[in-house]
Amino acid sequence: MFEDYISKTQKSKALYERAKRVLPAGVSYAIRYFEPYPFYVAKAKGSKLYDVDGNSYIDFWLGHTALILGHSPPAVMKAVKRQIENGTHYGVAHELEIALAEQVTKMISNAKMVRFTNSGTEANMYAIRLARAYTGKNKIAKFEGGWHGGYDALHVAVKPPFDVPESAGLTSGALQDTIVLPYNNIEGVKMKLKNEEVAAILIEPVLGVGGGVFAEKEFLKGLRELCDEKGTLLIVDEVITGFRLAPGGVEQYFGVRPDITVLGKILGGGFPIGAFCGPTEIMEKVDTLRYQRPQYSFHGGTFAANPITMTAGLATLKLLEDGKLINKLNRLGDKIREQLRKIFEANGINVQVTGTGSIFNVHFTKEELKDANAVFRADRKKLAEYHSKLITNGVFFLPTHNGTLSTAHIKADIEKLFSETEKYAKSLA
Ligand SMILES: Cc1ncc(COP(=O)(O)O)c(C=O)c1O
Repeated sequence: MFEDYISKTQKSKALYERAKRVLPAGVSYAIRYFEPYPFYVAKAKGSKLYDVDGNSYIDFWLGHTALILGHSPPAVMKAVKRQIENGTHYGVAHELEIALAEQVTKMISNAKMVRFTNSGTEANMYAIRLARAYTGKNKIAKFEGGWHGGYDALHVAVKPPFDVPESAGLTSGALQDTIVLPYNNIEGVKMKLKNEEVAAILIEPVLGVGGGVFAEKEFLKGLRELCDEKGTLLIVDEVITGFRLAPGGVEQYFGVRPDITVLGKILGGGFPIGAFCGPTEIMEKVDTLRYQRPQYSFHGGTFAANPITMTAGLATLKLLEDGKLINKLNRLGDKIREQLRKIFEANGINVQVTGTGSIFNVHFTKEELKDANAVFRADRKKLAEYHSKLITNGVFFLPTHNGTLSTAHIKADIEKLFSETEKYAKSLA
């Protein structure tokens, strides 16, 4: 099955052999491994990745979905080049961190104050700590199939079976404070939380690992009401969806108001970032001038608010803030979902096409998908095979993961996605 791929990627094969000696599994992140071995990127520009063997790939993975403007967008690169001349890392206060925080508060209506981190994982970790500090409660709740990064208390119930620990080395102390909830099932959530006091409910509005299933508006409304009743904070993890679905985030797109919003990926304009933000009353708990130890909720980091990232993030958000580019991508996403569905249906293959806005995925099943359980019941082998065929023919998805769109994708890129999908669908028919 991999013959064509292997014959096209001999230099990558040799690099992977080298990598295995010094990087566990040969990669820097488990999900970046795919069979038979990953191709090695030499260069990326616009909508494309170029590997060391001279192959090019239309990129729908986009650096873990971070690159909404494609690879190295000129406006961002220009600003970054200018900033590099003025220093790459200050480690003290600078105006760019204010400018990006102001930009975030301008776009996300419920965010009045912001703190920056270097990753989405860190941002979620600090958001959870803040929720505990603010509410005085210990337990937290997350959803089956939700991925929020590798922080112990959140690295729970990501893939079914949900009762198997996601990693060795997670202490029972960390795990026992996390309650796992059913997605898109408000009655199930209420049952699980009936006799519990929780600091926060944390939710991904569109499941990433969970295959692009999104939260129903009524469900989100129910969560908001439940949080208000119980004195629990609603933390919305917008690491993927933030600045992708709408300039104003989940409140604008899904109509639900978070207490704390967690951001990452797109916010960094191609550089490492995370952030958590919310109303002043909550965010003030991070203020070490206002509160004494142990009343404040600590946050910090060597590279927090690094000037290169702040510059790239600001240049990116300036391009996204009027919503025109985002809406255009959302409309293209609608078309892609519709066309992929049609291609498979025309060939008599049962699929569910998931996603919303500029996020999309295909699942080989008849069953309607409302949660990660259902996504993982679909034929995952076939999905990996479909993505693998696409990769061999120059269309890149990280196998089984959601695809996303960037403003750098051109018509020919989308047509190629359709024509390669059609070839695959015909091969199954
Ligand atoms: C929804 C969500 N939250 C958090 C994270 C963790 O972010 P990072 O990989 O930057 O630590 C991710 C990463 O994929 C994510 O998709």
